[in-house]
Amino acid sequence: MAKVKSIFFCQNCGNSSPKWMGKCNSCGEWNSYVEEKTTKSKNQSPTDFLEKASVIKLNDVVVEDFPRLATASKEFDRVIGGGIVPGSVVLVGGEPGIGKSTLLLQLSLRFQKEVLYVSGEESATQIKLRADRITKEKNNCLIYSETKLQYILEKCKEISPALVIVDSIQTISSEHIESYAGSISQVRECAGEIIHYAKSTATPVIFVGHINKEGSIAGPKVLEHMVDTVLQFEGDRNHVYRILRSSKNRFGSAQELGIFEMVSGGLKEIKNPNEVLINKERSNLSGVSIGASLEGNRPLLIETQALVSSAVYGTPQRSSTGFDLRRLNMLLAVLEKRCGFRLGAKDVFLNIAGGLKVDDPAMDLSVVCAVLSSSEDIPLDAETVFAAEVGLSGELRPVTQMPRRVEEAEKLGFQSIIVSKHALKGIDVPAHKIEIKAFYSVTEVFQELFG
Ligand code: TYD
Ligand code: MG
Repeated sequence: MAKVKSIFFCQNCGNSSPKWMGKCNSCGEWNSYVEEKTTKSKNQSPTDFLEKASVIKLNDVVVEDFPRLATASKEFDRVIGGGIVPGSVVLVGGEPGIGKSTLLLQLSLRFQKEVLYVSGEESATQIKLRADRITKEKNNCLIYSETKLQYILEKCKEISPALVIVDSIQTISSEHIESYAGSISQVRECAGEIIHYAKSTATPVIFVGHINKEGSIAGPKVLEHMVDTVLQFEGDRNHVYRILRSSKNRFGSAQELGIFEMVSGGLKEIKNPNEVLINKERSNLSGVSIGASLEGNRPLLIETQALVSSAVYGTPQRSSTGFDLRRLNMLLAVLEKRCGFRLGAKDVFLNIAGGLKVDDPAMDLSVVCAVLSSSEDIPLDAETVFAAEVGLSGELRPVTQMPRRVEEAEKLGFQSIIVSKHALKGIDVPAHKIEIKAFYSVTEVFQELFG
């Protein structure tokens, strides 16, 4: 007999409690507990699994070489570690409207084998209209607009597709659970059942997951623990560039990153991002500099733009797009205190071009130089790239993978790169055509650039 049980779940972290609580004692969020009714089968006991699992010597475990399924998207394949592993479950998260459905539909339309695209959000007509924008070629895509977990699993068993896509996991609900679709217990139950199907039939499954306002995947963190790979699809909706980044990968590196451009015919892969991201033909503008950052495993040259002007209001404004505001404030404080630049009464605006977000500390020097260039109103040399972290005393600190950054800058035809003196050890200076200029502090760089 099934027994209905009422449990309170924190909608932020998935913690459960038998009674309502004002503040979650697991994640500290206020007013996040919601009552959910779950049905528990009586004959399920915590020791059930004991009969099935057995202990094996690690030496005796045979590793099968799993052939990966290649999709038609090289960028997607690279990000997930070289193709989809049979039976693996991938979660693609991202803000609404960023292009998750477009990315996965495009993948389904160009997939060699049969794909079951389960859509809980859009009707078959809507999907057809979208598909027509992407390609008119013949495809192996089956559309199933359904939200009931039991029907979906039945169809999966009946059709045995080579790949299942569930868009999105928050719209699917199981009839065994009373709470609404998208609640913690529904998401957990549905994901669990589908993952079980994936593992037992070796069918790969891709989930789309919504993210909440804090930027983490909505519903529980448990969803991220349950799946094999978590991909984040990010970017600025008002810009055309999108980044697909892996944040967890049981079958490959979690450092990979793919770049796409949203055009009228869907998402286009960008193979040489550096050629589209930077604009070398800028005509002597002050406040622009190029930083050699490393996003995932990829060297990316990124344009930093700064505008420094006298504050109109009493409190100067600091605004930053694509770069951490706290880090910008720290860099401004370093310039003020250690290098004697009076920026305290100035408005400072910072923008990373292309709508990208960067968190590589190597961008520090680029940000500092863009700010100084705008403040002095002297343009920087368009042929120079920056790559160093700036410490609290204004010293330049070395950053990781210097040789790759230098190589990339050289490949793109830049004349010089400014780095930390401490980073020189790792670089084979005579082997490079590009001039490598090394300094100990921000003040020395300032002397070099502005005399
Ligand atoms: P969508 O894929 O529906 O996003 P999500 O599933 O993450 O919510 O969003 C697609 C957006 O991209 C939408 O605003 C329209 C735009 N778009 C294009 O610019 N070109 C295209 O070919 C397609 C299909 C969509
Ligand atoms: Mg969608």
